[in-house]
Formats: sequence, structure tokens, C-alpha cells
Amino acid sequence: MIWNLGSINIDNFYEVPHLPAPGETLAALSYGFGLGGKGANMSVAAARAAARVSHIGAIGPDGRWTRDRLIEYGVDTPHIAQIEVPTGHANIVIDPEGENSIVLFQGANVHLTEAIIGAALSEASHKDFLLMQNETNGQEYAATTAKSLGLRVAYAAAPFEAAAIERLLGRIDLLVLNEVEAAQLEASTGKPAEALGVADVVITLGAKGCRWVSNAGEKHFDAYPADAVDTTGAGDTFTGYLVAALDRGMEMEVAIDLALKAGALMVTRRGTADVIPDLKEIQDHFGI
Ligand code: RIB
Repeated sequence: MIWNLGSINIDNFYEVPHLPAPGETLAALSYGFGLGGKGANMSVAAARAAARVSHIGAIGPDGRWTRDRLIEYGVDTPHIAQIEVPTGHANIVIDPEGENSIVLFQGANVHLTEAIIGAALSEASHKDFLLMQNETNGQEYAATTAKSLGLRVAYAAAPFEAAAIERLLGRIDLLVLNEVEAAQLEASTGKPAEALGVADVVITLGAKGCRWVSNAGEKHFDAYPADAVDTTGAGDTFTGYLVAALDRGMEMEVAIDLALKAGALMVTRRGTADVIPDLKEIQDHFGI
């Protein structure tokens, strides 16, 4: 079982001819909206990877539909609080190469209370996963509580903030971050990934795959080729699948392979939580 302390956003998507320059006003080529947030994306990915996942989060009155949609996608939602603060949202611009730029309004995501988080984790069992990203408050409380209950703690360091990771070190079992973030973290801590005291560190390398750093050494995994149209949410899909596979008892190598496949298929789609592939789609796509 995965307990995901995570953001829930209303994602607004704008296709643009190029990413806007400072001071530029730019007409969008198209507009759409859907369910998003790094947390919600990971919950949906984990559910689509056949794990049981309970989302811990907060929405405002304008976001009731986001909770309904999580339910439709197979995510447990009793620990999503509705509060009197607007739901978080993200304005996402995407250029023709599939690159994006995102402006976040955190909203309800940063108004979680220890009571909300504590009530959820009081239902957790030894060896369950606590999954977190850096789009909510309450991470330190959640990590401390989870460790005291014997949970495994997985942290996806996005949006990246070295200080947020450093505050959690000693309480993280699995850290997922990208290459640039790994370099920034090393510059901030003075320690390479293998010296952070985290049992498993997975460093994503975009089209070059990923590296897994553990006590047993380091291993590289190639990416699966993909014609990317939109990279938004691909990292979240990778992490959701990775943690789901580990939670289901797969070995790390097998879990990473599945997560790379999910991420590769995700970049061929436009959108975030609403278009995350399920296991059947991955099997059909990769012929397995
Ligand atoms: O990683 C993609 C996500 O980042 C989007 O869904 C958006 O909501 C932001 O949180």
C-alpha cells in the first residue's frame, strides 16, 4: 500500500509556438485543462500500475471534481481534505518540441495539517510506502511519523529544493531526482548520491535513461525510444510506476524497467494525470 502525501492541481495547458520570453505576450494555439499536480500524477500512475494508493492532500471547493476523478482512476481519497482555500493550479505552456514551462499556484496544497496527515498514517502498516514530492507542506512530520511506524519513505525531489531534501535526510529510503538536481544536491551537501545515507537513489537522465545508486554500487539503464510530444508528467509517471512496482514486491531492476517503459509511453501523449498509461497499454505498446 502506498500513502502519497501529494499535491492536487487543476492543470491548464496552453500549446504555444515557443516558450514566452520575458515581457512577451503570446497567443496560445490551443487550451485544455485536466487533473494534475505531481502528487496526483504519481497517485494515478501508481494506481494504473496496479498498486493500492491512498492520496493524502487538500483541495478547495472549486476542486471537488479532482477528487472525483482520482476515485474514477482507482485512487483512495478519504484523506483528501476539502478546505476553504482554492485548489492548487498549474499554468503549463508547451512548445512544439514538447518542452514546457510551468507556473504553480500552491493553494490548498500547502494548507495540510498534522491532523490530516496523522489520521491517514495511523491506518498505515509496517512496510507500506510513504511517497512525497515537494509541492505540499507537512513533509517532515509525515516522514518522521512514517519512519516511527516502520514505513518505507520515497521522496521525489520535485520541484527541486536542496534544503527540502537535506531536512529529510536520514528519513528517506528511496530518492528520485534528475541529473541536474543530483549535481545541485551534491554542491549543496558536499556529498555524492552514494554518500547521502539513502539506501536507493534513482537519478533520471531524460532520453538517456537513469542511474540507480545503492549500497551494492551503481547501475545504468537505457531509456526506451519515444517520439516525445509533451514531457509534462513523464517524471511523475516514472516515479509512480517505480514505487508501485516496488510496493508490489518487484526487484529494483524490474521496477526501473517498468517505470522507464511507462515514462517513454507517457511522453507520446499530451496532458498529465488524465493520460497516464495503464499496465495493459504498456504491455501492448512494448509487445510484452
Ligand atoms: O510534473 C507535472 C506537474 O507539475 C503538473 O501536473 C503540474 O500540476 C505541476 O505540479
